Amino acid sequence: MMTDDFSYDRLPYPSKFFVQTFPDRLATQATLFGMDPPAVETCRVLELGCGNGSNLIAQAYIMPKATFVGVDLGIGHIDDAKAAAAELGLTNVEFRQMDVMEMSEADFGKFDYITAHGLFSWIPDVVRERTLGLFAELLASNGVGYLSYSAYPGAHEREIAQRAMRFASRNISEPTEKVATALSFLKFAAENTPNRGTFQQTLANELKRHAVHAAADVFHDDLSDLNTPFYFHQFADMLGEHGLQFLAEAELHAMGTNDLSAAARNFVDSLDDAVEREQYLDFLRGRAFRQTLFVHRSADLERDLEPSIVDRFLIASSMRPAGAEPDLASAKVERFVGPKGTGIELDLPLAKTAIAKLGTVWGRALPFGELVEDSKRKLSEAGFAADDWESQIEIVRKIVLQIALASNMIELHVYQPTAETAASSMPRISRLARWQMKNAANVLTQFGLDMKIEDRVSRHLLQLLDGTRSRNAVFDELGKFIRSAHDIEGKHEILRTLPEWLDASLGDLARIGMFEA
Ligand SMILES: C[S@@+](CC[C@H](N)C(=O)[O-])C[C@H]1O[C@@H](n2cnc3c(N)ncnc32)[C@H](O)[C@@H]1O
Repeated sequence: MMTDDFSYDRLPYPSKFFVQTFPDRLATQATLFGMDPPAVETCRVLELGCGNGSNLIAQAYIMPKATFVGVDLGIGHIDDAKAAAAELGLTNVEFRQMDVMEMSEADFGKFDYITAHGLFSWIPDVVRERTLGLFAELLASNGVGYLSYSAYPGAHEREIAQRAMRFASRNISEPTEKVATALSFLKFAAENTPNRGTFQQTLANELKRHAVHAAADVFHDDLSDLNTPFYFHQFADMLGEHGLQFLAEAELHAMGTNDLSAAARNFVDSLDDAVEREQYLDFLRGRAFRQTLFVHRSADLERDLEPSIVDRFLIASSMRPAGAEPDLASAKVERFVGPKGTGIELDLPLAKTAIAKLGTVWGRALPFGELVEDSKRKLSEAGFAADDWESQIEIVRKIVLQIALASNMIELHVYQPTAETAASSMPRISRLARWQMKNAANVLTQFGLDMKIEDRVSRHLLQLLDGTRSRNAVFDELGKFIRSAHDIEGKHEILRTLPEWLDASLGDLARIGMFEA
């Protein structure tokens, strides 16, 4: 399928890492729905269309006992991936320039987890067919596959803008000029269409969507002649033709119904068939993109979730009590809020204590059993005695499951890499994070959190934390940096509070797993 003018060699794709493709996520969803997936810590992972390797490099770094193979048709992408792996000294990841059309089990054997992000909708039919064939052939019997793709009905809206952009830029071959021309026409059309109804709204929405996109995203995702969206039921049929079946969405809460009206929720929740349910959810939400997990048809899935399944997971939550001094050891209702301000109200002492605990260690996920024991101990110390802990624990299980299915305010995990829980006297953040600070938009913490660090002082701090400086030296150099920078707002206030800010920042960085164990 390689042409002399392979588009990804003309304009490389700015690949990132995607935690929703990591083995922990795939194994978590499989465990939730009744499977015993391969152990994450030592698993074998394949990524098809791995781009410049950013996704596998991040995983290989935080999971040193697992092994990773990335293949991509783009020579430039694979050269970049190999150079990055060498720079970070990674020996558990291999990159190979290869066409999925030519791959077979003879190349690398079978894999526990296979992913392909941003590939499936953007390749010819025959390559798509082979890609599914490879999943069926190379996936271990209890393994999990991941494919992302453009989805109808939402993609219909996108197509309106894409067709116009493609037409307006059809005679231009230089990629960045092509993108500029395409976007400029989209803006022109959005501002000048006489059709002020939903048509204008669609163009304006698309223009807004592209505001955060790099030229390469628009070039490959929107201007490519190859862009085939699917209705979910069509995708599920294709899986079936290859002996595979739908497992779950990579974002668990996308399968929930909490955001729907009561009528819509009742309707969707009355559907027994998982594929039908997902399809109706897409019709209701107008979904345009999917990240779907699947397994062999022979896998026996359990879709009626029992609360006891929660005992198999590590639990993480970013929720914090809304009040400064929450009353945890009584039946008083307390509100807990997530980072975006949405929240829940709880009155059960064990649930309140457990969620409050998770908030204090956020970044780290705790085994459910340990979390419960810790919370019981805290409540006992506060003088609270339950008549029947077992029934309280059962309610906590239900609450955890309900929130995890409805939002990302509670996350389930089956595996979490280790990290240093405090900054040392010569603080050193992971080499991966330092490398990503220079080469990528986001940083992956050892705990698997995807962090965007934008403010300049924090970015400079991370660069200083390479293990060669004491805390005092870090403090001095950071002060010098702030004093000499011309464009940092509120400089004097920052300098005045720098000692406290630095202590708090080192604490926060440790909490989210930035320091290597
Ligand atoms: C949109 S990019 C996605 C890259 C990366 N997975 C990401 O999401 O950032 C699609 C990738 O698939 C690769 N690709 C396209 N056709 C391929 C084929 N037949 N065999 C292997 N890789 C292919 C391209 O070179 C490109 O790197």
